[in-house]
Amino acid sequence: MTTNARRISILGATGSVGRSTLSLIEENPDNYEVQALTANRDVENLAATARRVRAKAAVVADPSAYGALKDALSGSGIEAAAGNAAVIEAASRPADLVMAAIVGAAGLHPTLAACRSGAAVAFANKECLVCAGPLMLAEVARHGTKLLPVDSEHSAVFQVFDAARKGSVSRIILTASGGPFRNWPRARMEGASIAQAVAHPVWSMGSKISVDSATMMNKGLEIIEAHFLFDMPEAQIDVVVHPQSVIHSLVEYHDGSTLAQLGTPDMRTPIAVALAWPDRMPVIGPSLDLAKIAQLTFEPADPVRFPALALARRALQTGGDAPTVLNAANETAVASFLGGRIGFLDIERVVEGALDALPKTVPGSIDDVVAIDKEARLFAEDFIGSRLSRRSVSIG
Ligand SMILES: NC(=O)c1ccc[n+]([C@@H]2O[C@H](COP(=O)([O-])OP(=O)(O)OC[C@H]3O[C@@H](n4cnc5c(N)ncnc54)[C@H](OP(=O)(O)O)[C@@H]3O)[C@@H](O)[C@H]2O)c1
Repeated sequence: MTTNARRISILGATGSVGRSTLSLIEENPDNYEVQALTANRDVENLAATARRVRAKAAVVADPSAYGALKDALSGSGIEAAAGNAAVIEAASRPADLVMAAIVGAAGLHPTLAACRSGAAVAFANKECLVCAGPLMLAEVARHGTKLLPVDSEHSAVFQVFDAARKGSVSRIILTASGGPFRNWPRARMEGASIAQAVAHPVWSMGSKISVDSATMMNKGLEIIEAHFLFDMPEAQIDVVVHPQSVIHSLVEYHDGSTLAQLGTPDMRTPIAVALAWPDRMPVIGPSLDLAKIAQLTFEPADPVRFPALALARRALQTGGDAPTVLNAANETAVASFLGGRIGFLDIERVVEGALDALPKTVPGSIDDVVAIDKEARLFAEDFIGSRLSRRSVSIG
């Protein structure tokens, strides 16, 4: 470790993005000094990682995991803590960079704390921007926070978007792999199993985002994320399905020039862009071999088989609390699907039901967002319990 090492904390250190981040840090040990690592309750991985990278603190959100964490860290000198307040405190520790990689709206308060801390924020946790976009961006502006997108599509746009001449941008084009059901008819999707839904053809990710990719709600959330990150109207954000996931997204300018960012589909690249920005860090991995890939293909997204895209656009057009409702209903429905309580296509039914019934206000504070999020989760639970017939969902 050198005196120029950047201090970094990782929220969601035991997840897919968190682990990829740590692998890059471990390949460049002189450049980073790990402050805090957080998880929900995966004590074993958190403690082992904290010891390996000599973190200063390790924190679990689940208070019942505190004893196990303390035992697992005993003799290491690493501080142990538990509870939501401790995760927020970890996010606020002095650091140069915070990786915000908690999944879902559970990351809202910790990510906000990171944005207020003076650190640059590597931004993976798209759900918190979807559920509280304008309020979160107001905090970012107030504290002069540097937001570094981690989603591969937004990292691509970030790298080719001329922010100083935003008026010359005519379109953002987000690419989508199409997910595991890209060629499935609706009737087959109705019986899709959990294992089939999480088996993404290109990317290896956590289970929630994998299901979102299968419904294409992930792309819908990304349209909302792009709208907030790049201040682009919804009508100027397009989606194209590109199954090879080599072009990670494009920006079209008024003169017809369209700039793209390409790379092998490996999350370590966009994470490395955020970790080293504005420099570049070496990443061990295969180079892009276009001659070997030979063909890049594109097709329009099918709005009939994937209505989640239109639901997300509708929430963004409605504005106010609609994106908060969309996100909370989707999180609840995805968790129910992963728990075997509802079928795959029920996810969009829950989200549509919530969007039909709930949006009515403009959240004026983060407390408002939390209250709307809670109401939408209760609505979604009730919708699942009362309106959706119990289906048999195969786990294998
Ligand atoms: N995976 C990708 O390739 C990818 C790509 C682009 C964007 N993203 C975005 O990055 C975020 C993380 O995705 P992921 O795939 O890495 O998720 P993941 O593998 O499911 O990991 C989620 C992380 O969040 C922690 N966590 C879960 N619930 C929590 C809570 N209530 N409080 C505090 N921490 C909690 C988990 O801890 P435990 O391990 O203890 O449960 C874990 O460390 C998501 O917003 C996703 O949309 C992911």
